Amino acid sequence: MGHMLEKPSSPLTQLTPPAIATKISGKPVSRAKQDIRKAIIFVLLIYLITWEFDVAEKLAVFTARYETMQLDELPIAMLMAALAGIWFSRRRMHEIKTEAKLRAEAESSLARLLNENRALAAHVRQVQELERRRMAQDIHDDMGQYLTAIRLDARSLSKLVDPMVASRAERIGLHTEHVQKAIRDLLHRLRPVALDEYGLIDAVRHLVQEWKKQYPDISCRCILDDRCGNLPDNINLTAYRIVQEALTNISRHTEATTVSVTINFCSENKTALEVRVEDNGKGLSSTEPNRRGFGIATMRERVTAVGGSFDLQSTVNTGVRISVILPLSDLAE
Ligand SMILES: Nc1ncnc2c1ncn2[C@@H]1O[C@H](COP(=O)(O)OP(=O)(O)OP(=O)(O)O)[C@@H](O)[C@H]1O
Ligand SMILES: [Mg+2]
Repeated sequence: MGHMLEKPSSPLTQLTPPAIATKISGKPVSRAKQDIRKAIIFVLLIYLITWEFDVAEKLAVFTARYETMQLDELPIAMLMAALAGIWFSRRRMHEIKTEAKLRAEAESSLARLLNENRALAAHVRQVQELERRRMAQDIHDDMGQYLTAIRLDARSLSKLVDPMVASRAERIGLHTEHVQKAIRDLLHRLRPVALDEYGLIDAVRHLVQEWKKQYPDISCRCILDDRCGNLPDNINLTAYRIVQEALTNISRHTEATTVSVTINFCSENKTALEVRVEDNGKGLSSTEPNRRGFGIATMRERVTAVGGSFDLQSTVNTGVRISVILPLSDLAE
């Protein structure tokens, strides 16, 4: 089984069948002209044949014999049936045209809503990242120094002679250390500080190291190009969040034993960045089509928002490969 999720084309192009699109766009329908010509030729031909062979007269003589069965009224009834058929098909044609027009309108408003939705989602993510950064700074600045001060005080108290006080002070020191570590982890989740301070590659290295500590049984190989350290903020953040979500998914959903994380330039002139995360786990389940999570969808949205392409390939029992290309047109020389 293979899943390919790529940069979507225009929703209108996806939804509108070409035949209907031709009618909607009002282009001449060449088939109709041809058919009218054929119909005229056919009618003329029949007219010439009936003229040549006096078909109507012969028909009149023939049907007159069956006057008792009113067979002579049949040609008029058939003419009326033909007219009724024309009337019926014209009505249906009108209905089809109206339906196609309504459908085209619905599709274009759907396309507009999709675009608006996408822009809104991008804006929400941006605001969320800004808010996270602000919270991380506040927590770091407000709490960090006080916790350090508490630890130092606890350490000096623990040197006192009173063993009771000393042991309590030691415990306070340990608890404070624990809180400090929890806050450090929280800060990393809120906003990878290393991303701002040291750039993408070191931040991802740090992320992977921390992840490895939690999952020592999974072997993780990193191929990180150090030249990718100094990239625009939105690219850094997108690449970082992709790796973060992919690693979270691996730890939550797979039974992988090997993972590899690759970040490098796609070409020598640095026009695009490639981010790839692969695992050898069980792969996406084909029996679970309606997945409820938002991780993969958010990854794809993030990548689309910076004009990149997202590709997810999954093979049952062979693993998942997420490959993302992020354009770096500003850096190209
Ligand atoms: N590397 C992977 N290997 C196997 N299955 C995966 C992998 N990544 C994702 N999945 C499957 O795809 C589903 C969707 O993943 P997604 O990240 O979108 O959502 P989630 O992880 O379930 O929830 P969320 O990310 O919103 O907390 C998962 O529930 C899981 O079944
Ligand atoms: Mg997830």
